[in-house]
Amino acid sequence: MKKSVLVVSYSQSGQMTDIVSALTRPLLDAGIRLHHEVLRPQPAFPFPWPFFAFLDVFPESVRLEPRPNQPPVVAADAHFDLVILAWTVWYLSPAQPMTAFLQSDAGRRLLRGRPVVSVVACRNMWLSAFDALKTLVAEAGGRLVDHVALTDASPALATFITTPRWMLTGRRDRYMGLPPAGVNAEQTAATARFGVALADALAQDMEKRDAPMLRGLAAVEVVPHLMLSERAGRRAFAVWSALIRHCGRAGQRRRIPALGLFALYLVLMILTVVPVSLLLQRLAAPLLARRLAALRQRYEQPSGAATPS
Ligand SMILES: Cc1cc2nc3c(=O)[nH]c(=O)nc-3n(C[C@H](O)[C@H](O)[C@H](O)COP(=O)(O)O)c2cc1C
Repeated sequence: MKKSVLVVSYSQSGQMTDIVSALTRPLLDAGIRLHHEVLRPQPAFPFPWPFFAFLDVFPESVRLEPRPNQPPVVAADAHFDLVILAWTVWYLSPAQPMTAFLQSDAGRRLLRGRPVVSVVACRNMWLSAFDALKTLVAEAGGRLVDHVALTDASPALATFITTPRWMLTGRRDRYMGLPPAGVNAEQTAATARFGVALADALAQDMEKRDAPMLRGLAAVEVVPHLMLSERAGRRAFAVWSALIRHCGRAGQRRRIPALGLFALYLVLMILTVVPVSLLLQRLAAPLLARRLAALRQRYEQPSGAATPS
């Protein structure tokens, strides 16, 4: 019997679509049946983003109260041997279309009892979002067996300019001497190694075991100093999202002033708190070493950071 794989993805710029193509080609080459379900939020989110629309998705993304998707094309009772979730991060949370899928009746039925591979592509902060995704997958009855994280390879400080520029103008090219935004072409092409490993694993029924199939392939890299910044960001985002939600629902003009204040807060944070906290973390590195090592160990699961030997 031919193995079958469901890929569920959402991409605005096409970055995640390119990653899905590169990663799944070896599966197609191996004769595996592939259904690619592209999530379609109803109504669609804009890209590039108008400024306030970009801010307006913040509260509902963080609170996991997403805009719904159109019903999937695939039948909810269809059987797949493996599910690949290809998702992005919005405000330290899974992007709304993936949250909506995982919360939907059809999504839960498609995941129930299935092994799930998570593939995230984002600027560089995916840890908190991964915690939320793991919970959503578990609540849907899926078994998360592997996780691959792809992040912008350019310096974190440069991405504070290049990512918002890309999101708000649609342009991701070189800008003011800064490298292009996003995951680069080599990183994208190299995701084929995961497709090869999955095709081999499926050929040996390894998806039926409760064990990762992508170990030793440098599936993730956990950057220690970003972990504590993310945790602080999550706490602040919980307060801000509750406050803005209190002012009105998504799309309502009444919450524009609160969104404006939140934008100001974000800019001030990036200009002041982020560099200071990075410096303090460097200075306190010996004191934080054990805590960071434990966090790194936790977030490297299940697929690991080890490279091929
Ligand atoms: C509203 C919004 C918020 C985002 N927040 C984050 C974030 O918190 N962390 C991060 O690493 N990337 C963040 N990103 C970048 C996305 O994760 C992703 O890399 C980018 O949107 C490109 O994905 P695409 O394939 O959908 O075009 C954000 C993007 C958007 C549109």
